Amino acid sequence: MKKMLVLIPAAVMLFAFTYVAPETKPWIAPASAKKLKNPVTTSKKSSSAKAGKKIFKSRCVACHGAAGKGDGPGGKALNPKPANLTSYKVQKQVDGEIYWKITNGRGAMVKWEGILSKTDRWNLVNYIRTIKASK
Ligand code: HEC
Repeated sequence: MKKMLVLIPAAVMLFAFTYVAPETKPWIAPASAKKLKNPVTTSKKSSSAKAGKKIFKSRCVACHGAAGKGDGPGGKALNPKPANLTSYKVQKQVDGEIYWKITNGRGAMVKWEGILSKTDRWNLVNYIRTIKASK
């Protein structure tokens, strides 16, 4: 009985500390992210993007949609919604900022560091560059 009296408030506190309010502020990568250099040289960009596309199809489409427009079935109920990766809002960022966001995540956007290698994450950046929407 005594144990319960301790456990219940502990559970309530744990919930209070782990509850994450939906992000309402725009997501901006730190200035340091702009300095991250894409390690893939121009001649290797297309094979890197091809490798990135494979990872995208297995790991990202559920939320970001098959074409990366942010309309995947798994993203419907999310707030904020998964980003439209083809949009100007995303594409105007430098490679390092996109890499940083994939690496660190926010809210429902997965922190891919520790799940995907650095190479995989840069391959994804190079793939995202190929799905830029035409204006
Ligand atoms: C569980 C759903 C989910 C999955 C899976 C997911 N994302 Fe996201 N992603 C999101 C959400 C939601 C956001 C918007 C986060 C925010 O603004 O707080 C986001 C944002 C992003 C952004 C930032 C865009 C911007 O606003 O600048 C990038 C880049 C991105 N995702 C890439 C990826 C890549 C690459 C993968 C696969 C490796 C992936 N995401 C998998 C949900 C997901």
